[in-house]
Amino acid sequence: MNQDIKIGVAGCGALGTIVCNALRDGIEGYDFVGVSDIEEVDFGVPNLSFAELAEKCDMVVECLPPKIVPELAQDVLKRDKDLMMISACSLLLFPEINDIAAKSNGRIMMPSGAIAGLDAISALNCAGIDSATIATTKHPRGLKGAPYIVSENIDLDKIEGNTLIFRGSALEAAQAFPANINVAATLSFAGIGPEKTQVEVWADPNAQGNCHEITVKGGSSTIKTSVDNLPDPTNPKSSMLAGYSLVAALRKSHGKIVVI
Ligand SMILES: NC(=O)c1ccc[n+]([C@@H]2O[C@H](COP(=O)([O-])OP(=O)(O)OC[C@H]3O[C@@H](n4cnc5c(N)ncnc54)[C@H](O)[C@@H]3O)[C@@H](O)[C@H]2O)c1
Repeated sequence: MNQDIKIGVAGCGALGTIVCNALRDGIEGYDFVGVSDIEEVDFGVPNLSFAELAEKCDMVVECLPPKIVPELAQDVLKRDKDLMMISACSLLLFPEINDIAAKSNGRIMMPSGAIAGLDAISALNCAGIDSATIATTKHPRGLKGAPYIVSENIDLDKIEGNTLIFRGSALEAAQAFPANINVAATLSFAGIGPEKTQVEVWADPNAQGNCHEITVKGGSSTIKTSVDNLPDPTNPKSSMLAGYSLVAALRKSHGKIVVI
């Protein structure tokens, strides 16, 4: 019988709360030992600093604002512990995390987040992918303040129909729309990397939520997926599916019959 994995959650906002509630209810194979949040939170486990949490855990689940992730990554990976990371964009915005990971025996794991089809895309990648595109459509207000919108002087209030705002690589999208590219980053890591993965950002004043449409083409297959997510009730920038993708990833590591 394997010992349970000691696990903690850093960041207990919209997505972290979903994970903490699932861990408190019990996920087979895990011992929920702590959380870390600057706010007061109560999930029946102690609220610790990143360093204390990393020390106590075998694995830490990250649900933080992206700019905080390098600090957590350092604390977790330098102790050779595993990091399950929902803020995939951090790896594009802060490449130093890759250097920390390269020197660590700990691993970085990324769940599917708000998109679908990464299992098939990873499989096709073993044979070869020719092109990978993700088109994200959201209401113009969801793009307000993005560096690209500011630098290009785009008046979001004047957009009337579904309008293509940006097209570029996932790496370029990271600079242009840092708050909107987790999905593009995850796709790029599952497939052909951030330079070759293409990103389109559409603004639609009639959009109710966020839609992510992926098209990946390789020799033997074309994969197309589309996910419509309503905004999370507590954080409209996130969708609950991303939180449940973390719970699903944890469940997968211990089931007797598992679809991976
Ligand atoms: N991969 C995906 O598909 C996907 C989808 C949605 C969101 N995300 C990303 O997931 C992350 C979390 O999203 P969310 O909606 O839960 O965010 P949130 O803002 O609701 O929660 C963030 C939590 O982190 C805490 N926090 C902030 N600074 C901290 C610090 N220094 N130390 C400890 N805790 C701190 C906050 O108090 C808050 O509880 C974001 O980076 C978001 O971009 C990824």
